[in-house]
Amino acid sequence: MSTNINPDNLPNLQELEQLANQFFKAGPSGIVNQFPVQQAAEAFQLPGNIPDTGLFNPGNVNAPASSIPSSTIGGSGVSPSAINQGNAINLKDPQTSFADPNLNAHSNSSAPAQHSPINAFGGQLPSQPNLGYDSYLVKTDLIPDVVLKQNFQVEQLSSAPENLLHLPYQQDQAFEVELNKILSNIHTSGPSNALPFTGEPAATEIPFYFLSNNHGLPAVKSDQEKIKQAGISNIISPPFDVNIIRRDFPILQEQVNGKPLVWLDNAATTQKPKQVIDRISYFYEHENSNIHRAAHELAARATDAYEGARQKVQTFLNAASINEIIFVRGATEAINLVAKSWGEQNLTAGDEIIVSHLEHHANIVPWQQLAAKKGLKIKVIPVDDDGQIILDEYVKLLGPKTKLVSFTQVSNALGTVTPAAQIVHLAHLAGAKVLVDGAQSVSHMPVNVQALNADWFVFSGHKVFGPTGIGVIYGKEDLLNQTQPWQGGGNMIKDVTFEYTQYHDAPSRFEAGTGNIADAVGLGAAIDYVSRLGMPAIAQYEHYLLVYATQLLKEVKGLRLIGTAADKASVLSFVLDGYKTEEVGAALNQQGIAVRSGHHCAQPILRRFGVESTVRPSLAFYNTCAEIDLLVNTLHHLKR
Ligand code: ALA
Repeated sequence: MSTNINPDNLPNLQELEQLANQFFKAGPSGIVNQFPVQQAAEAFQLPGNIPDTGLFNPGNVNAPASSIPSSTIGGSGVSPSAINQGNAINLKDPQTSFADPNLNAHSNSSAPAQHSPINAFGGQLPSQPNLGYDSYLVKTDLIPDVVLKQNFQVEQLSSAPENLLHLPYQQDQAFEVELNKILSNIHTSGPSNALPFTGEPAATEIPFYFLSNNHGLPAVKSDQEKIKQAGISNIISPPFDVNIIRRDFPILQEQVNGKPLVWLDNAATTQKPKQVIDRISYFYEHENSNIHRAAHELAARATDAYEGARQKVQTFLNAASINEIIFVRGATEAINLVAKSWGEQNLTAGDEIIVSHLEHHANIVPWQQLAAKKGLKIKVIPVDDDGQIILDEYVKLLGPKTKLVSFTQVSNALGTVTPAAQIVHLAHLAGAKVLVDGAQSVSHMPVNVQALNADWFVFSGHKVFGPTGIGVIYGKEDLLNQTQPWQGGGNMIKDVTFEYTQYHDAPSRFEAGTGNIADAVGLGAAIDYVSRLGMPAIAQYEHYLLVYATQLLKEVKGLRLIGTAADKASVLSFVLDGYKTEEVGAALNQQGIAVRSGHHCAQPILRRFGVESTVRPSLAFYNTCAEIDLLVNTLHHLKR
């Protein structure tokens, strides 16, 4: 294999830097070139000072892209440096070590089933908003593993395979090598196989997603025409090829009512890539055992797989410690855990809990139950007519009795992205603890719990392309260890007598009994999947779709959008004059389009807008403009 690097002399940082920069430049679809670097760099900056009054205005889906404030991508704001915190280094600085589990190098066949040949930033963002690529952050423990060939394809060194360091996702799961062998005949349509990374910008190799529509959807206009049609003159191009990604999701090939399935119910649950499905099958075929408690091979495999998944979650959220990641059934159980452990232990009569008007029932009912039991008061942050948190009013609610602020990062009913970092900061100033419900955010934007600084952050696996029945609660380690467990049983104890039980520290402290081991492992695979695509790239692409869909829906006669916040993610809730929401849902279903009609388990916020239910299409990265066209055309047809 010809290389530009002499392995004997590794690492030659200067040469590696040059090659790495060439590599990034050559990303598929000109990813790096197409990503609005300036916007991205700014988008994830935390606000330096929290204003006492006024709204942080993070973006505007109604505006042309040229006028969309950079913070639209990413919503709550996470700084590039924070994203890379603890791991990434600047290649210019030989003192620092390289490390980035998210970097999506395209490696040889020992890698597990792969996706996009390289992600936009692999979870990384440029530290400076220029296109010189000099400041890209790359991991040292990746670089010695790979050689950048002249065509920029990344391959592992073949000279001494036994000595290879591994890409991070190869390190922890020996299964992946074997799985890759097993699946080599199956994964013929996966992005990594379908699109060998040649070093040429993928835009020249593959047509834009809507030109290569092979899903039975109507042929549609060219990219430029669509952009023009939507009045988005300066929007950036999609950061990846959606048709290639779609092949990873077997269910997207389903027919419904004789039509190709159009899955626009992603806020309710997301579809699962083959990589997740296969990983769960593999677990049951090769690793299944209870964990932590046996001295046999399968117990070791299952424990490694389960704890490996925990580590992936830690990296995904950028938690400071793996002990801060607790597996639960989902976001609902996570919130109940906090209510029934920390809340039971720490709240007393007269204490106040603040939630926002946007909350899902899961972030209302547990607090009501606790309030009824303990004599607590619940206060509600109001929203404006666009569905945006009114920070001025929030500030007025905070006081010495405020013990907890619990709010959503993205509204499941309206799509509003809340100014989460500001809400957390203000709560802490008041001495309150903060829980952030990330059920609707983790699949749409990078989340960095250290930058966000919430005390707890919760999400559900099934909303981020993982299995149902598994979810996560992140909590600050000290806080978790000071909190009484909420369930007792095996796994969570150090010692038990009939008189006294000594508990483990977190996370075991909160994982009594046998958990959902296989689905935790499946969640790990889902996190691998989105990490390889890159959450910034996903955020960018979905923003593109949201702008496009918003523009077109506004043209449907009699359609009223419910939730028009400047900063939104995924969700397009609406009502249509003359039709019940379930009638609209049924009409769309006739065309194979799945949307949710109903109250979305968020009755208070719908009532704020004078409705009991809405039709709610919700987007994910595998949706296309063609699908949106079909949705909108069906609505036009209904009105006619
Ligand atoms: N919470 C889920 C939704 O918003 C079920 O649809």
